Amino acid sequence: MKVIIVDTYQEISDKAFEIIKDIVVNKKDAVLGLATGSSPIGIYNNMIQDHKENKTDYSNVVTFNLDEYVDLPKEHKQSYYSFMNDNLFYGINVKKENIHIPTGVGVDLEKACLDYENNIGNYEIDVQILGIGSNGHIGFNEPNTPFDSTTHIVTLAEKTRLDNQRFFNDLSEVPTKAITMGIATIVKSKKIILVANGSKKKEAISRTIEGEIGLDCPATILQNHPDCTIIIDKEAASLLKNKYE
Ligand code: F6R
Repeated sequence: MKVIIVDTYQEISDKAFEIIKDIVVNKKDAVLGLATGSSPIGIYNNMIQDHKENKTDYSNVVTFNLDEYVDLPKEHKQSYYSFMNDNLFYGINVKKENIHIPTGVGVDLEKACLDYENNIGNYEIDVQILGIGSNGHIGFNEPNTPFDSTTHIVTLAEKTRLDNQRFFNDLSEVPTKAITMGIATIVKSKKIILVANGSKKKEAISRTIEGEIGLDCPATILQNHPDCTIIIDKEAASLLKNKYE
């Protein structure tokens, strides 16, 4: 696990973007694993600005998103489908047919999970971007999700619903279920970049980097990944005991 500690959110986004750009420039048909939430927005802004200025080409890039709410229509402002269009896809030349986001509405959900997993299996994710929940979740794999899980339906932890309430008018509007890549699906990615900022993430980050690997903090499994970089600010790093870059 490589740990990079910087001062600002912008620096987190810049460092993560450098790694992603290098992959996209060197492999025209790179496969990107994408996350939603606040953490990756700076990375996506960098990708959009760079595409505008340097014409970095995404026309053969394939994307897979980590997760989507169940029972929230695609058109809803807070669906991850809308999030990705509003925060990234509108500003780069990725082709619609190369974008994959789980569907959480109007489908046989069990079948949708299997299909999504099989579809990912046709590719290899070159780099997976991750945020981390304040309870240590990755994707929507909440504490106690088996490490060998594949794409599945989850009941969101109360903590996650409370954390995500800020995007909705009130808690009752926050969906209770989601479809998520599993932990086994995520760790199959060749490279993983986890970004986190702010003191709300400090417990989860200290456990992930320096704690014991355990189901109660799903992100701890990343300690076993051969190529995982964690990029955080000083607030998120404030409980770490060891020295890092
Ligand atoms: C989002 C996702 C989640 C978030 C996590 C952190 O696709 O899978 O694991 O990365 O909940 O969310 P933010 O970045 O909003 O703090």
